[in-house]
Amino acid sequence: MRLTYTSDVWYKNAVVYCLDVETFKDGNGDGVGDFRGLTQQIDYLAGLGVTCLWLMPFFPTPNRDDGYDITDFYNIDPRLGTLGDFVEFMRTANDRGLRVIADLVVNHTSDQHPWFVESRSSRDSPMRDWYVWSDTPEPDDPSQIVFPDKENSIWQYDEKSEQYYLHSFYRHQPDLNVGNPEVRDEIARILGFWMELGLSGFRVDAVPFLIENVNPQLANPHEFLADLRAFMTRRKGGSILLGEVNVPYKDLPAYFGEGLGDQLTMCFDFIGMQNAWLSMARSDATPLARALRERPKPPKDCQWAMFLRNHDELTLDKLTEEERQEIFEAFGPRKDMQIYGRGLRRRLPTMLGGDLRRIKMAYSLLFSLPGTPVIFYGEEIGMGENLDEEGRMAVRIPMQWSADGGFTQAEPVREIPEGSFAPDRVNVADQKRDVNSLLRWFQLLIERYRECPELAWGSHTVLETGRPSVLAHRCDADGATVVVTHNLCDTAVDVELTLEGLEGNLLTDLLMDGTLEVSADGSVRVPLDPHGCRWFRASRPEIPPEDASVKAL
Ligand code: GLC
Repeated sequence: MRLTYTSDVWYKNAVVYCLDVETFKDGNGDGVGDFRGLTQQIDYLAGLGVTCLWLMPFFPTPNRDDGYDITDFYNIDPRLGTLGDFVEFMRTANDRGLRVIADLVVNHTSDQHPWFVESRSSRDSPMRDWYVWSDTPEPDDPSQIVFPDKENSIWQYDEKSEQYYLHSFYRHQPDLNVGNPEVRDEIARILGFWMELGLSGFRVDAVPFLIENVNPQLANPHEFLADLRAFMTRRKGGSILLGEVNVPYKDLPAYFGEGLGDQLTMCFDFIGMQNAWLSMARSDATPLARALRERPKPPKDCQWAMFLRNHDELTLDKLTEEERQEIFEAFGPRKDMQIYGRGLRRRLPTMLGGDLRRIKMAYSLLFSLPGTPVIFYGEEIGMGENLDEEGRMAVRIPMQWSADGGFTQAEPVREIPEGSFAPDRVNVADQKRDVNSLLRWFQLLIERYRECPELAWGSHTVLETGRPSVLAHRCDADGATVVVTHNLCDTAVDVELTLEGLEGNLLTDLLMDGTLEVSADGSVRVPLDPHGCRWFRASRPEIPPEDASVKAL
């Protein structure tokens, strides 16, 4: 690779920052975050080093699923601002070199969307076929019910028109019928509209539901994804689809577009994420190492998106019952911390008991795992959750800017947590002044991650360490190599690595001072602190380490 490739294939080593405009910064003093507030904070985000913002849904909505229930795809929720505010935000973000993507929620609409209102008005409505109606729905399979605390079926009877409509999620979110060409055209129009306003792509909500899970009417589901992607590329080269595809590894290549890479540009690595948590719970790198070894290689120019936490529950649905219970026990033993029987509604720092060393190690792991890291706002300062908020809202709390909160002067849209993760303990302003803070650690990790494109672009190998608690891997691209080690347990360990092809090289530590020498037979002993993490650049002794990365090639 050449470094210049990273401008065309920009997403492959991007740093994606997910935020909800509603809870980020209130710019007009009404207690609700908005585009004006977000625009004021652009320099903070640019300074953090992230390269792409992912905005959670900001469209008009009755807000029964935090905006994932949309009533108008071509507008801005008036609580968050106007299209004018959006354009000013886009322009400011672009000026600071930040790209922006947004949630694309087209598996369903709100039941108050004019399309659905029209569709349900009568069986003869011209929009009847925009949604999925049935006289005799299939009996429910409990595993298809996403929110078992609120729903017991994916079909809802409509009294007026006397048929059932499909809803993969809440009953107030009827599924669009993407089998209908008019619906598919409209979806493309939505993409086109927002790309025209500057978006570089979309995080596609609930992809398996959108194209194949229960909607029987799409003849060739994957063709639909490929069509969307082709449409986007025609309109704006380099625009991306980042898919929420929580399926086993064996089923994933189809979503990238097997072999071709012509569908989703990136997919979240849900399996890697769940195994990372299992590894942390056990202080044993084996599950994560296994997942990395089993993970399919994305097609050329496609990429994995790595994350530890997101805006939803920490889903553990792809682990066994025993494994899930182990994680519950370690990181969320109380019933009110758990949700849907499959996940946790906590943020990472509280799960790790506020132990800064361990938290720093976890994020070092995230940034060094092969793929594109995606972080959820507030992770960079170690925000906790507020369990008093309902369900998944526990983690979607206002950003903590300063000791007094700093999100708003008014009554905030969601409650600020109290206790050891309250704003007076955890906030941006204090951490900016503290060189040892988590915020400074994130800045360092992001800087190093961006300076080491091998991590995202290279071929990766999980190394034998002889120590179950240590994950070691190397990433190689065109003769340049980065070696990374993480100690998942709370005692110091030395590991002996064998680094083929690096005999006689120096390993320069990229996170702290220090150099190790690889012996003539390729072995090197790496000392690691409790929860220690080290990233090394390999270089031949006659070449300065700064000149040994791919950028010099
Ligand atoms: C996705 C979103 C989630 C939302 C659901 C329905 O899973 O991540 O927040 O509730 O889709 O749109």
